[in-house]
Amino acid sequence: MAKIHLPLGDRKYDVHVERGILPHTGQILNELGISGKVAVFTSPTTEKTYLPELLPGLRKNGLEVNTKCLPSGESTKSIQVAEELYSQLIDWRFERGSTVIALGGGVVGDLTGFVASTFLRGIQYVQIPTTLLSQVDSAIGGKVGINHPLGKNLIGAIYQPKTVIVDPDLLQTLPTREMLSGFGEIIKFSLIRDFKFFSQIVSGRKAILDEKQPDFLQDVITKSIRIKTNYITADEFDSGRQRVLNFGHTVGHAIEAAAGFDAIRHGEAVIKGVQSAVEISENVKLLGTHIATRVHDFLHELTVPSISLDVEEVLKRMQIDKKVTDGNVTLVLLKNIGDPIIVQHGAGQLTIKEHILRQAIANVCR
Ligand SMILES: NC(=O)c1ccc[n+]([C@@H]2O[C@H](COP(=O)([O-])OP(=O)(O)OC[C@H]3O[C@@H](n4cnc5c(N)ncnc54)[C@H](O)[C@@H]3O)[C@@H](O)[C@H]2O)c1
Ligand SMILES: [Zn+2]
Repeated sequence: MAKIHLPLGDRKYDVHVERGILPHTGQILNELGISGKVAVFTSPTTEKTYLPELLPGLRKNGLEVNTKCLPSGESTKSIQVAEELYSQLIDWRFERGSTVIALGGGVVGDLTGFVASTFLRGIQYVQIPTTLLSQVDSAIGGKVGINHPLGKNLIGAIYQPKTVIVDPDLLQTLPTREMLSGFGEIIKFSLIRDFKFFSQIVSGRKAILDEKQPDFLQDVITKSIRIKTNYITADEFDSGRQRVLNFGHTVGHAIEAAAGFDAIRHGEAVIKGVQSAVEISENVKLLGTHIATRVHDFLHELTVPSISLDVEEVLKRMQIDKKVTDGNVTLVLLKNIGDPIIVQHGAGQLTIKEHILRQAIANVCR
């Protein structure tokens, strides 16, 4: 059990990580002074399994609750669904002091946060992430948003929640492929952090993915959140240090975009992006071969679905990546495990030759 504090001035909040905490959400909201109207946005699976655990505690604490279930899938993170939610909130007569709660994975969380950030110029919201990916990553740090037909997450804001409630026990019903997707982000955290955490991930792979050992999950989730919150606290508005969290994401996002929404899970694309970044790091002589080999061996043990994509298409997608500044592609590479470096392809002291980039992409796109 842990309470991780983000000291962000008047946007400060706590992330609660505790097995079995879900039914106690009402009490936590009460302690934060949240009262009145509350809307819970959720998805079909979480509505059936976890909404009944959440609702009694909210009502017991005097909250007036409405709920809405949204279809699963990336296409839900759209301007059309956001508009539906605005209409619903207007219909329920939501006011500035009302609260929305996201009970679901990253899709529900990103969309709910986006709606909260814009409705009546901003109402408060709470994240209750239910996938491994959202528990360790997307629910933390306030990045909220929706997709545009031309690209993922192109419309959004940085808008912090009032609190985040992480109950690792909710993962017991999560399909294996979704566990692997979240594991992709955990691998990212471990590689930018240190050898100790990376070794724990390597040796604990089965405990996480196959056995879903609850206490082990809680420990790994807590460590991942601490890594993320350190970066958020240092750079809330993503203007410098936080870019390290994009390790594996420049190529990863391009793969997702080239594959099309819902063709590949976000974390699976991140694993492929991490693989490329490690290969590039080795080929430009930043990272030692024995460490690169160790990471590659570990990544190869994971059953990430293969995907056949045109390398040119992936490269093209990298050019419209949000992380492009002055036409240069920004990549996060590794000098060592726990020692990431931000590099601009085609600028600065380190030039990544086109064929190295191309080869590293080709190796994960077939
Ligand atoms: N905001 C950020 O900082 C950030 C970071 C990373 C990813 N993201 C975004 O997160 C989204 C992906 O989120 P995701 O991986 O959580 O996927 P998701 O939200 O699509 O959820 C995956 C599936 O699991 C189901 N599900 C959720 N919880 C469950 C549970 N406990 N048991 C059984 N089924 C459950 C969902 O209904 C859905 O079908 C993407 O849109 C991505 O862009 C955002
Ligand atoms: Zn990610």
